[in-house]
Amino acid sequence: MMRLLEGKVALVTGGGRGVGRGIALALAEAGAKVVVNDLGATLEGEASGEQPAREVVAAIEAAGGEATVDGGSVAEWNAAHRMVESAVERFGRIDIVINNAGILRDAMFHRMSEAEFDAVIAVHLKGSFNVSRAAAPHFKTQGSGCFVHMTSTSALVGNMGQANYSAAKLGVMALSKSIAMDMAKFGVRSNAVAPFAWTRMIDSIPDETPEQKKRVEGLKKLVPEKVAPFVVALCADEARDVTGQVFGVRNNEIYLFSQPRPVRTAHRGEGWTPETVLQTAIPTLKAGFYALDRSADVFTWDPV
Ligand SMILES: NC(=O)c1ccc[n+]([C@@H]2O[C@H](COP(=O)([O-])OP(=O)(O)OC[C@H]3O[C@@H](n4cnc5c(N)ncnc54)[C@H](O)[C@@H]3O)[C@@H](O)[C@H]2O)c1
Repeated sequence: MMRLLEGKVALVTGGGRGVGRGIALALAEAGAKVVVNDLGATLEGEASGEQPAREVVAAIEAAGGEATVDGGSVAEWNAAHRMVESAVERFGRIDIVINNAGILRDAMFHRMSEAEFDAVIAVHLKGSFNVSRAAAPHFKTQGSGCFVHMTSTSALVGNMGQANYSAAKLGVMALSKSIAMDMAKFGVRSNAVAPFAWTRMIDSIPDETPEQKKRVEGLKKLVPEKVAPFVVALCADEARDVTGQVFGVRNNEIYLFSQPRPVRTAHRGEGWTPETVLQTAIPTLKAGFYALDRSADVFTWDPV
């Protein structure tokens, strides 16, 4: 039987661990040849070697697949171009880009340093731009290509102590949508996925209070490999009409997220003054205001 991604070539950034590792293995199992990029970053973003990526490549090869390691940083424009070139040189083409590499530098906003903000934007947002932009000319020329970018409910819904990360991840969602629009005429697709997975990335969540402990116990049930089947499906030709969307995957649950649209309007023929805004517009709009929900306030049920 023909496998779903037979003949395709994929690049998975941050593919050495966690969610990216599961995706790299599943893409290979579906027949794709895979460039496993990972600089073996510590959670805070310091490079510590290619070992995790090498282990994933070894596992793919042991299962009869083809893969190669790339140890570059997505945050660097030239390195991002080299990882795409490495796919083309080694395997002859590039069909799939999974922007998954990530780091955290959590801090409450009033204590967040410039370095903490810049580092997270550089890997998640600029990194997703760098790698996508490097692949774009290949996708345009061949008239096909599939981007999947990892976003987060920390951005789509909200989370505390993650202003850098939330800003980057909502940026990633907008980047994905813009790529989908700009490149639709070349048969190129772009979607964002918010994974839920127990990886070292969320292992850094504090579990001191009983409430935090309960939450962390729930998070430990989230299997990173369970994100992969959905991502593989998105990359298949059978999903050719799926683009510009925002999805979520949490164990056996798959979500489609809404995208912002006006939910209420206030208008006044004679125009507004600050006073009439306060008297009329804000009370009118207030019925549609959102609470300061965090992701955990919205996803209140145990994962299925
Ligand atoms: N785990 C979750 O519940 C969760 C939730 C929402 C979003 N995400 C997103 O999913 C993606 C994967 O997260 P994870 O939980 O598997 O984390 P992880 O820390 O287990 O894996 C991330 C990988 O990215 C690599 N990396 C970091 N900086 C890099 C760089 N500059 N260049 C190349 N590789 C780099 C790391 O070495 C690491 O192996 C991230 O984008 C993350 O923001 C995860």
